[in-house]
Amino acid sequence: MCGIIGYIGKKNAFPILLSGLKKLEYRGYDSFGFFILGKNNDFLLKKTGKISEYKNKSQKNIKGNLGIGHTRWATTGAVTDANAHPHFDCQKNIFVVHNGIIENYKKLKEKLISEGHKFSSETDSEVIAHLIEKHFQNNLEEAVRKTLKKLRGTYGIAVISKKDPEKLVAAKLGSPLLLGINHNEFLVASDPSAIVSHTRQVITLDDNEIAVISPNDFFILKEKPIEKIEWKIEEAEKKEFSHFMLKEIFEIPESIEKSIAGRIIPDKGLVKLGGLEEVLDRLKKIEKITLIGCGTAQHAAQVGEYMFEEYIGLPIKTEISSEFRYKKPILDEKTAVLAISQSGETADTLEAIKEAKRKKCLTLGIVNAVGSSIARETDAGVYNRIGPEIGVAATKSFISQLCILVLITVALGRQREMDLVTGKKILNELQKLPELAKKTLEQADKIKELAEKYSEYKNFFFLGRKYNYPIALEGALKLKEIAWKIHAEGMPAGEIKHGQLALIDENFPTVCLCPYDSVYDKMKNAIEEIKARKGLVIAITTEKNQEIKNLADDVIYIPKTLEMLTPILAAIPLHLFAAYLGLELGLDIDKPRNLAKSVTVE
Ligand code: G6P
Repeated sequence: MCGIIGYIGKKNAFPILLSGLKKLEYRGYDSFGFFILGKNNDFLLKKTGKISEYKNKSQKNIKGNLGIGHTRWATTGAVTDANAHPHFDCQKNIFVVHNGIIENYKKLKEKLISEGHKFSSETDSEVIAHLIEKHFQNNLEEAVRKTLKKLRGTYGIAVISKKDPEKLVAAKLGSPLLLGINHNEFLVASDPSAIVSHTRQVITLDDNEIAVISPNDFFILKEKPIEKIEWKIEEAEKKEFSHFMLKEIFEIPESIEKSIAGRIIPDKGLVKLGGLEEVLDRLKKIEKITLIGCGTAQHAAQVGEYMFEEYIGLPIKTEISSEFRYKKPILDEKTAVLAISQSGETADTLEAIKEAKRKKCLTLGIVNAVGSSIARETDAGVYNRIGPEIGVAATKSFISQLCILVLITVALGRQREMDLVTGKKILNELQKLPELAKKTLEQADKIKELAEKYSEYKNFFFLGRKYNYPIALEGALKLKEIAWKIHAEGMPAGEIKHGQLALIDENFPTVCLCPYDSVYDKMKNAIEEIKARKGLVIAITTEKNQEIKNLADDVIYIPKTLEMLTPILAAIPLHLFAAYLGLELGLDIDKPRNLAKSVTVE
């Protein structure tokens, strides 16, 4: 932590910087420094010790309307005068104060030295001054812009150049920086305490913004970070598979791995989601969460509702994006709206986010397509990182969305009531899922046989309860999309006795999601009710379960896991079942009739 300050205007800069810097002392107090661009003489000071104890008897002689100051909390380089800021280039033309850490400074420094630059400190910050020198042609902001592109890490900086003397340039990434605006004068500072005695009008700079300030005016440049497409060209090819949908289902174990890689701190039962870091404090204050999405993504949202409600301890709602914005939802700044979308372009979801923003909600996204509209529109979010999904029906992206919902459950749960043991247990089991998904996929041939066996039937029910109720909806949707000659309906198992049971007979098969969980006995009852009406039952249950095997006509097993993770495994056979049934009916499972992958119309 360090504090930085800068001044440009008509007044004498030094006393303003001195008093402002004293207010920032809590941010670092092992050394301090100033640079004032003087009318006749410049003033440079770099000194160990506390700014509060600094006395300058000849203050009156320090004259200049442009200056920067810094109070240091050493990170790279010992506490010495030389390591105190401001840092300067070889010609002492460029002066920089920096708060943050330049992670790649060693490499940059070596290269600059090999190009002839002479360094006078051990700090990471000094590379900034030399890089600006290297890139300087005739305009300071352009040299700063080029320099920032080379830096990895965090920074709040204020820069002055003698060669472009009527200017103060400030920029930030990850470290705080404010621009204070007064009549004919401007200040920049790490926090408001340093400038509030001069002005209450401020602009909080955002990451990647560069403020270019002259005595009379300012403008802000937004530097758009370059994003990297992580997937490789082979990922958009079918390889040995006949269809993308099949390839993508078989990629599920790898997609789970990619979705959770590097995001779990196992021994602490914690989750690290870089994309949410900036809003973590705001998330702590959230009082309710609404999850939105369309189609399969909406089913993921529904599973998320069960996870969040059980473990985060907040009121949670799920909405269909296209309904959300028209029903006048009651939202405020204490509501987080989490949008789930593979493509990041679904118009209904995008418009719903805009509505949430108008109502001042915190907007979050779970998105696969990097840089897509939803990724850009939301305040923060988590990428799936699973490469392209080409088959129109969402499969691996659904599983990945569920995994990320588990991560968010732990991230937000641990901010609230979830204890270490529960956090560890969930994450531990989540890490086993790639293997368990592989095991589930080993039954592909069996599922193919079932698809052949049931391909003559025209109607299916899909039943589940609790965590697997949305999976019943998903199983039915997949069958309708992919094997569209068949009609299917998903519903909560408890509901069939209130109506749908009337349809059941020997021509109406039902897929029952019945893993060992807290509603197992209730699901078993539903199967018995169907069997009593001569209905056919395909059951998805936990491995080794004999009881269900004896009751149902056919069984698909999934490995044992935590209740909240069962939907992740249970969805896999349903996706395969739909794919094989579609193929059995001679349909193009990658491009189902009348549908599109990315629906960009409302
Ligand atoms: C379309 C696709 C579905 C998908 C839905 C939401 O309807 O056919 O497979 O679930 O859009 O898409 P998104 O990209 O927002 O996840």
